[in-house]
Amino acid sequence: MARRILLLGPPGAGKGTQAALIASTLHVPHISTGDMLRAAVAAGTDLGKQVESVMAAGELVSDSLVVAIVDERLSQEDARCGYLLDGFPRTVAQAEALNDSVINAISTVVLLEVDTDELVQRLLKRAEEEGRADDNRETIGRRLEVYEAETTPLVDFYEVGVLHVDGVGPVNEVFLRIMLALANS
Ligand code: AP5
Repeated sequence: MARRILLLGPPGAGKGTQAALIASTLHVPHISTGDMLRAAVAAGTDLGKQVESVMAAGELVSDSLVVAIVDERLSQEDARCGYLLDGFPRTVAQAEALNDSVINAISTVVLLEVDTDELVQRLLKRAEEEGRADDNRETIGRRLEVYEAETTPLVDFYEVGVLHVDGVGPVNEVFLRIMLALANS
């Protein structure tokens, strides 16, 4: 059966890190809306120009724009036999849009749980190492607020079968926890 997995969690929870490992292990594409949007910003496309300031402020890009990008990506051949979504959906409206397409309905949701102090520390550390535009104290605070308001309702939306995984600890240990949870689901 095709595995259509959603990796859910607050900013800094390790979604991108774990998604890369899971996707290569399960041989499904890793689809990250954050990566796609950052690539558009870096390339200076019309989309990139439209979303740059929104992302730098820690706000969400509009549902219609993101849904269109994901629809296009999921229509590609490599997503036919499953995928791993990272960073989408992150509003109930986005989740409903995805559900409308039966072929793309999520089969498993993994929620990475990390306490706020640890999230902030990780993102401030990455700010020093990589200088991502939205990794500064003020924007991190806003991203966490937006996650709480817009994305946590998805835990209830997907109430059947959300796998809660402790995201604190070495990357390989968190990865093993996720794989174990997936194997038992
Ligand atoms: P997005 O790129 O999705 O960012 P995010 O959700 O804020 O998540 P991060 O990438 O910061 O963290 P992560 O959970 O992926 O953790 P990571 O593995 O990177 O979105 C960015 C922006 O794009 C949004 O704010 C919005 O503007 C826009 N956007 C994207 N999708 C959208 C959508 N669907 N709708 C509307 N707008 C959208 O790890 C973080 C750091 O921690 C790294 O340095 C990593 O090395 C480290 N780390 C990872 N695991 C561990 C560990 N176990 N222990 C210690 N450190 C760790």
